Amino acid sequence: MRKVIIAGNWKMFKTRAETLEFLQGFLPQLDTTPDDRDIVLCAPFTDLGTLSRNLHGSRIQIGAQNVHWAESGAFTGEISALMLVEVGVRYVVIGHSERRQFFGETDETVNLRLKAAQKAGLIPILCVGESKQQRDAGETEAIIFKQLEHDLIDVDQEHLIIAYEPIWAIGTGDTCASAEANRVIGLIRSKLSNPDMTIQYGGSVKPDNINEIMAQSEIDGALVGGASLDPQDFAKLVNYK
Ligand code: G3P
Repeated sequence: MRKVIIAGNWKMFKTRAETLEFLQGFLPQLDTTPDDRDIVLCAPFTDLGTLSRNLHGSRIQIGAQNVHWAESGAFTGEISALMLVEVGVRYVVIGHSERRQFFGETDETVNLRLKAAQKAGLIPILCVGESKQQRDAGETEAIIFKQLEHDLIDVDQEHLIIAYEPIWAIGTGDTCASAEANRVIGLIRSKLSNPDMTIQYGGSVKPDNINEIMAQSEIDGALVGGASLDPQDFAKLVNYK
């Protein structure tokens, strides 16, 4: 059985006070959430301690949005996997397109981060996806296969989640048609050594399209940006039918 995971990626949003306010609105709505799904909140580094203190004993698991590959060292501004584990983090987003686009992330550094995260016991959420230009040029499969081939060298596929996030669908309201997301995720699955891996879809997932997305046979969850910031919307997402 593949595990279903609904994860919020808060990106660079929410101060500590806003995090507490979110939890106040969100937690009471979990009472009726079915047990067949896991819930993860991937927050900025500065919110991780707050989440950890306030989610102790709750079913929500905590994720970070990046991790450095070295165990320690002279890397000003970076955070190691062990530091994340120590504050109660279980998951970490790696290779998000915003990091690939704006912060020089390459398949090589993604691969290093994946291995370092796993070594420390974290479960990476590896993001892959194509740009609009690549899709229009018919390169979707080639781009994603290349990402997988390089990113997954010597990576343990038993402790890994993949999120298919078409770049053109992120934050645009232009969700990938669910049948198409299902098709691409099926192709991703065909390239994996672990056919039971959880593969999420990400890109403008909202309360009004989550049911259709989650009804697809290959899709095991969602990685949600904008709609995870609002406690009512995120509650609707985790309570999808
Ligand atoms: O990682 C989640 C993300 O990139 C999707 O963002 O705002 O389109 O749900 P959004």
